[in-house]
Parts: sequence; structure tokens; C-alpha cells
Amino acid sequence: MTNVRSETGPRLNSRPKTVAFANSKGGVGKSTLALLMGLGLATRHRDASVNLIDLDPQATTSDSLRRFCDSRFSVVSDSRNYASGSPNNENIISHIHSQQSRRFKKRFVVIDSPAGIEPIKSSFLFHCDVLLIPTSVSDADIFATRRYVGKLHHLFQSHDNRQTFPPPALIILPNLVDSRDEFNELRFALQNERAYLGKPLYYSPAFRRAFREQRNDDNIRTIFKQAQPYTLWLTSLLTQSHRLEKRPKELFQL
Ligand SMILES: Nc1ncnc2c1ncn2[C@@H]1O[C@H](COP(=O)(O)OP(=O)(O)OP(=O)(O)O)[C@@H](O)[C@H]1O
Ligand SMILES: [Mg+2]
Repeated sequence: MTNVRSETGPRLNSRPKTVAFANSKGGVGKSTLALLMGLGLATRHRDASVNLIDLDPQATTSDSLRRFCDSRFSVVSDSRNYASGSPNNENIISHIHSQQSRRFKKRFVVIDSPAGIEPIKSSFLFHCDVLLIPTSVSDADIFATRRYVGKLHHLFQSHDNRQTFPPPALIILPNLVDSRDEFNELRFALQNERAYLGKPLYYSPAFRRAFREQRNDDNIRTIFKQAQPYTLWLTSLLTQSHRLEKRPKELFQL
């Protein structure tokens, strides 16, 4: 595990495909989905390197994924810089843009962020292709998600031509869903949001064991078997992110 710091310095005119999982609300599935995305990309794209940046001082994701690290899959965490309660933007941005190894054709960066980060303090978000915002269907989570999306729009309004890349596509990801009816309820509650709405990830007890170290990694195997179509769809969001460049004027279901 290394700190979020580039050795090669930023190269701001090209960058790897980058996704951040974020929501001001805790416990909505940011880390679980970051795990699915990180390992899913590494499994699907053998010619790519995958770098997971864990911004959570609790380091749940990085601690549990460290055992999968090799020359192609790496995890970095930034706990030292979290005393201030805000991410160390310069280091994160520098890390996103650091040069990839010549051994790999592509590079993906997956960022897992902790609850409670204010968008206004997160300039690294400008450097992502896709911003995935998990939410459960509970009223409290929906309320927080709406507020969070509003703050993101406010942040990205300040985007100007000095920035090399357009702001990321905003995709709300319904998680911990119980039934199709519940998903429809959520869609209705979010109908006025100017964002994409992802496919629902249903509640499954297997996800409760996602961060456990088990012999033979049976828990991870079970999750990937169960969530295979979902993971395929999730990873395609990043690889096909150019298709999401048009910003929806109202909720647009993917
Ligand atoms: N689809 C699901 N089905 C069942 N349990 C789930 C599902 N998604 C996440 N969980 C569980 O919900 C809890 C919260 O998930 P997770 O830690 O990924 O959320 P988080 O948004 O990263 O939380 P935090 O804000 O604390 O970082 C965990 O115990 C996780 O195992
Ligand atoms: Mg988390």
C-alpha cells in the first residue's frame, strides 16, 4: 500500500478512465460497489491495470482488497491526510494523472470516498469520467442523495474552459433494493433530478460478507457469481463513459 502521491507528476492532457463512488450519506454501498467495480474491471480487462484509491480513513476497502494486489491491481490509501476532514485534492489529482506502466494498454482508477465529504471541497471530482452515487430506498437516504446531487450541480456549474475535461456523468445507483415496486418508488422520488439512474442492485446477504477475509475467497466468488450481469453492466459504465457525455435534463434511466 502506498500513499496518494505521484512519482511521475501530472500529465493533465490525458488520463485513465476514472470513476468515483460518492454520497454524503453513509452506509449506502459506496465501498461495496467500489469493490465490485475494482475487481470486476481487473477480471474483465486483462490488458489493463486497475488502481483503487481509498479515501476513507477507515480503509475498509483498501484493507480487504490488499490481498488481491499484484502488478496489475493496486490499492492506495490516504489516511494520513484525513485529519482535516477533507480530501487531499492535489495528491489525488496527481495520482489520477500519473503515468501508467508501459506494460499495460489501459489504466482504470476507482475512487472510494467516505461519507460526509462536501463536493465544494472535492476538486478531484472534476477529474473523474463518471461519478456513481449509491443510495438505498429509505427516505433519509433519498433526501440526502437529492441534496448531494444539488451540491454537485452547483460545483460543476463553476466548470469553465480552463478545465481540460468535461465534468463527470452523474449516475445514481439504487442499492439494497427489495423489490421492483420499491425501485419504481425510488425512481418516482428522484424524477426531477438531472442525473442518470442506474440499474437496481437488490439486497443480498452475500454482500454483507464482502469485506471478510475467507479461505479461498469463497465470499468474493459467491458475490461475483450472483452479481455477474450487474458487474458487467457496472464496469461497462466506465469503459463506455463517452456515451454519457450528454447531460440529462431530467432523470434518465439507463
Ligand atoms: N446490495 C446489498 N445487499 C446487502 N447488503 C449490502 C448491499 N450493499 C451493501 N451492503 C452492506 O451494507 C453495509 C454498508 O455498505 P458499504 O460499507 O459499502 O457502504 P458505504 O456507503 O461505503 O458506507 P460508509 O459511508 O460507512 O463508507 C455493509 O455492511 C455492506 O455489506
Ligand atoms: Mg465506505
